[in-house]
Amino acid sequence: MFGDISVNDWIMLIVRWAHAIGAVAWIGGSAFFALVLRPVERANPNLVRPILRPLGSVYRELVDISVIAIIITGLILMFDRLTGNDASTAWFIVLGVKLALAIWMFYLVWHFRQSDFDPTEQSTGLTARLSWLIGYNAMVFLGVIVFFLASVLRVLFESSISN
Ligand code: HEM
Repeated sequence: MFGDISVNDWIMLIVRWAHAIGAVAWIGGSAFFALVLRPVERANPNLVRPILRPLGSVYRELVDISVIAIIITGLILMFDRLTGNDASTAWFIVLGVKLALAIWMFYLVWHFRQSDFDPTEQSTGLTARLSWLIGYNAMVFLGVIVFFLASVLRVLFESSISN
């Protein structure tokens, strides 16, 4: 199909695409909360606070779908690379770091749910610092690093197949 591109390549293209869309939806959504809604809420608390809860509960469903899609497609991408025998040591190390950060992000989602933590609540002192670590800010921060590591993986992989 389409010249040299095999059916398997097309399937992997769809998997990669779904992985990237899931990542964009999750990190983009968190960035919207952290960088748009939060400052607007600070400036107009009475206007924004009543709608944060309903927004959050719908956003939660988007996160669920995205996280499930990211995990399934991420594992498929990983096994596809592993069976190809082209993955270098550097690739494995970067993937290991990316996976560790991804697991931290999954843990943050799980932690939000368990503690019924409300990242929109005003907090002070130690709790403020803790909520930074477990809130949307941390999610956006880790997500941006994971995106960077994904690009590094691609460059490492492409340079190892061209050698
Ligand atoms: C179960 C966890 C995950 C696994 C096993 C995984 C695995 C992978 C693998 C193997 C690749 C291909 C790397 C290459 O080109 O050599 C990849 C690409 C990528 N990953 Fe993940 N990943 C996971 C979670 C995440 C998360 C949490 C994000 C961001 C929120 C993310 C964002 C990306 C992006 C943006 C790409 C690039 C896609 C592209 O090339 O178009 N991944 N991932």
